[in-house]
Amino acid sequence: MEAIHDYFVKRPGNIDNGKHTACGCRSGHSYYSMVQGQKRWELVVTEEKLQQLDQPLEEPELDVQGFESPRLLMDAVEEDLVPLLDLAHRPVISARQFSRDQLIQISRLAAKFETEPQRITRPLTGKILISAFYEPSTRTRLSFESAWHRLGGDIMSITDPATTGIAKGESLYDVGEMLNNYGDMVVLRDSDEKAVYEMLESLRIPIVNGGNGIDEHPTQAMADIYAILKAHPELAKQEQVSEDQKIRIGIVGVPGRMRTIRSLLLFLTHFSRGIEEIVIVADDNDIFSDGQKDELAQSGLELRVTDNLQKELPHLDVVYINTIAWVSGGYEEHGNSYRLDSSSPFKPGAIVLHPLARGEELDRSLDQTPYNWYFAQARGAVFIRMALLSAILKSYS
Ligand code: CP
Repeated sequence: MEAIHDYFVKRPGNIDNGKHTACGCRSGHSYYSMVQGQKRWELVVTEEKLQQLDQPLEEPELDVQGFESPRLLMDAVEEDLVPLLDLAHRPVISARQFSRDQLIQISRLAAKFETEPQRITRPLTGKILISAFYEPSTRTRLSFESAWHRLGGDIMSITDPATTGIAKGESLYDVGEMLNNYGDMVVLRDSDEKAVYEMLESLRIPIVNGGNGIDEHPTQAMADIYAILKAHPELAKQEQVSEDQKIRIGIVGVPGRMRTIRSLLLFLTHFSRGIEEIVIVADDNDIFSDGQKDELAQSGLELRVTDNLQKELPHLDVVYINTIAWVSGGYEEHGNSYRLDSSSPFKPGAIVLHPLARGEELDRSLDQTPYNWYFAQARGAVFIRMALLSAILKSYS
């Protein structure tokens, strides 16, 4: 409601029988009616907001040298596509499938796409992506589709399994068999952890996991790594990272329940020599799944758990926050007591990441601060997915 209140003055209205209706009228006011609990309001656009609509939008500017600095990442790492050849025609299900070199080269390729969009050709012309999202998504679906379009391909999109044979009891195995005939790649999101494995059994075209329940979300974690490497390109270099360059990462969330965090931690194991410590901030007990903490510790990551975010913030170079876990078609909330806003005691130069969608844990007052890297992280997801798609289809611009 906050955003609507920014745009409208509200007054009690004489609205139709509870239906949500809207109509626009630029000659005077715009009228919106809505049901707010039991109350109904007529909302009228303010004159100031109407005047704003008459202004041209700001042209988006590419920030390749400065704040978001993909150029720094390109300068830090030599291009080497050889590690990516092993990804050709492979399914992508888990973060465990990727090596450090592959992550760095995918990120470098993403940086190239981001810095030189004018040089992107259309190598996927004639190829079809089947985008099957059986669970809601804003970023993953649309950024995959944007990435595929930008590389020249076409898309078939399923956003509701009830519009497919699944509503008639068809198995994902059988759906997968059909998809082999219709497209060149599948991206699947499903609340059921097993779904992606079931479809994989019958697929002969690559499938990418767009989030499977509470298990994994490897391409979101790639977008996270891309943002971290842009902010700290020294982590991607071959040379040993000096003690004073090592970073401290805070992760607010529950690694055993949140797929983005599970995949991100697996990726971070490849960068442990540049990471002084990872601090998991959670007010729950039992935040790891079976064996998860031991696996991470054995990889060389220094892990510590605390419930005190305020105390940690001044010492963190990267602050990753998430409070939602998708479970069986709904979501659990964790860590609701944690909040970040523009008055939070961040370390100078710190970056804040969030897989989004955000809730109250990430206040909009942060959006206009230099700590806001979550929008860059979401924007970079298009370039990182372009890079991954190029590698899987061995179609480089
Ligand atoms: N980060 C992420 O997975 O967002 P969506 O749920 O909008 O795809």
